Amino acid sequence: MSTLNIVTRDGSAVRVTPEPGLSVMEIIRENGIDELMALCGGCCSCATCHVFIAEDSFDQLPAMSADEDDLLDSSEHRRHVSRLSCQIPWSDVLDGLTITIAPED
Ligand code: FES
Repeated sequence: MSTLNIVTRDGSAVRVTPEPGLSVMEIIRENGIDELMALCGGCCSCATCHVFIAEDSFDQLPAMSADEDDLLDSSEHRRHVSRLSCQIPWSDVLDGLTITIAPED
């Protein structure tokens, strides 16, 4: 069973056991963390599901699409470890991943 560590905007850490196939955005919301607006529902068109990936895990993630890259450019909080959580499908190879919810734009 794999785990995902979620750090909320107030710095609280929550460890969850995700269901494979869900996106990281869906996992965050399904575990009762309501800090992500996820306005577009996961269609990669709003950037309100912005998270920071732990530096040592960033390269394990699936490659970013041009659309995701463009949307992240619209955030003033973008960092080199930024991703849109709706674009990260959970799989057990990501076991132990830590993500931090980005500040709201
Ligand atoms: S939920 Fe809209 S881009 Fe992720």
